[in-house]
Amino acid sequence: TGSLDARFKNKGKKFWGSCADSNTLNIAANAAVLKSDFGQVTPENSMKWDALESSRGNFNFAGADTLVNWAVSNGKLIRGHTLVWHSQLPGWVSSINDRNTLTSVIQNHISTVAGRYAGKLYVERDYRNGNRRTNTKIYVKWDVVNEIFEENGSLRSSVFSNVLGESFVTLAFQAARAADGTAKLYINDYNLDSNNAKVQGLVALVKRVNSGTRLIDGIGTQMHLEANGAGGAQAALTALAAAPVSEVAITELDIKGASANDYTTVTKACLAVSACVGITSWGVSDVNSWRSGNTPLLFDNNYKPKAAYTAVIAALA
Ligand code: G3I
Repeated sequence: TGSLDARFKNKGKKFWGSCADSNTLNIAANAAVLKSDFGQVTPENSMKWDALESSRGNFNFAGADTLVNWAVSNGKLIRGHTLVWHSQLPGWVSSINDRNTLTSVIQNHISTVAGRYAGKLYVERDYRNGNRRTNTKIYVKWDVVNEIFEENGSLRSSVFSNVLGESFVTLAFQAARAADGTAKLYINDYNLDSNNAKVQGLVALVKRVNSGTRLIDGIGTQMHLEANGAGGAQAALTALAAAPVSEVAITELDIKGASANDYTTVTKACLAVSACVGITSWGVSDVNSWRSGNTPLLFDNNYKPKAAYTAVIAALA
């Protein structure tokens, strides 16, 4: 019984979350569903580089703090999103062309942002068999690098790879670890929806970066899926979980058309892979979705549960 999040936890998972930010938290019906059904929040836009540091060294945490304070007051876990991404990146960063400047700019951004939210820890409750393991602590998770691959598994061209080569990945994870010694540090990407070349390129990079000290704790697969696109999800999660990481997560789930069948397939894929710690939906209601025309989420324009929601609940029975 209980909410989506509670039922998922009852299956041994750690959260079913959603993205949010002040714009959606301010909608009462949306906030009510977040409180009742979801256990984790990811800032949809407020922790991106352009929102936090639009000019060098000038940080604005207003939007990000709103989200974090809401999560803390409502007992929700937080996924930080995202420290290094080629998109929503201010022009002053993309125009840097020397290694020393870019290195210190990345280090300063990560230490300031991840440092601010370090130590935001929560009690993890394990509802299996009615037990509450109240002394188990889990911590903020961070998408340290986001969308750094091409579809063929090679590194995407960006200011980061063009100026620093692959070393920017290690640099970013080292900075994040220094800023928050207990956060779970993730590499996150999209189109990791079957055991494809992108999955294999990502796993190979994780092996290289983690060959000495384990810097990367987890792999996030966004899962912005097309209709009937969930068939490879379990194979993808299994391949990602075989990398040298301790966990994987579905971080931005939405599915064109939101069929009950597709949502059931994804839910069962995470259940079947023990390293899959949780699922984050990329929003609550279709009306606020970045792909609202695709009606991809679990709640309709009136914040009422859709058939896909009922199907997920059934899959968690
Ligand atoms: O903040 C400005 C506002 O000042 C301005 O008036 C308005 C006019 O267009 O734009 C606002 O910025 C928008 C921003 O969301 C905040 O609302 C951008 O235009 C808009 O492009 C941006 O879209 C976000 C998108 O990332 C940007 O790439 C979506 O909300 C967000 O859902 C989406 O999320 C990404 C993940 O972070 C990474 N994976 C893919 C996923 C979907 O694209």
